Amino acid sequence: DEDARIKRIASTIRVIPNFPKPGIMFQDITTLLLDPTAFRDTVDMFVERYRDKRISVVAGVEARGFIFGPPIALAIGAKFVPLRKPKKLPGEVISEEYTLEYGTDTMEMHVGAVQSNDRALVIDDLIATGGTLCAAINLIERVGAEVVECGCVIELTDLKGREKLGNRPLFVLVKGT
Ligand code: PRP
Repeated sequence: DEDARIKRIASTIRVIPNFPKPGIMFQDITTLLLDPTAFRDTVDMFVERYRDKRISVVAGVEARGFIFGPPIALAIGAKFVPLRKPKKLPGEVISEEYTLEYGTDTMEMHVGAVQSNDRALVIDDLIATGGTLCAAINLIERVGAEVVECGCVIELTDLKGREKLGNRPLFVLVKGT
């Protein structure tokens, strides 16, 4: 059942203290990927939620949105669009600057990859402060498309990133602090 799947997923996520900086409790999803049942259940739970929601594009946030986004996109019949760190995409891009839990960065998206009539799902492994997902949402909304929902494996609830997303819904499988 649903609860058993979530428990298994949660149990496979490894927490590494003081990485990449002192005071950060890093939520490591590479150990989830080592458990094929947990990995499949993770993808399936998103697919079950989104298969009938007329999603036309799954946008994955670099880096770990590139792991979970593509299998979801294939299963629901949507295109996949990578949202990347600066100077990685070869074509014409639009950019958004944002602040992270630890530092500042820029996110880029290829012009033309998302169209104004698209219905988008944004996928990442984790929401902390919400800055990253906000940048992703802004990129998609700037081209006139609709962000139907953001989906993450893990939400760090204490950081209240969910509030930063305004009225855009956020769906998560596992909550942590
Ligand atoms: C992590 C995580 C999210 C982001 C969430 O990425 O994978 O993308 O932080 O933080 P926020 O909600 O506070 O914005 P990270 O900065 O480790 O980059 P990486 O995936 O390229 O390693």
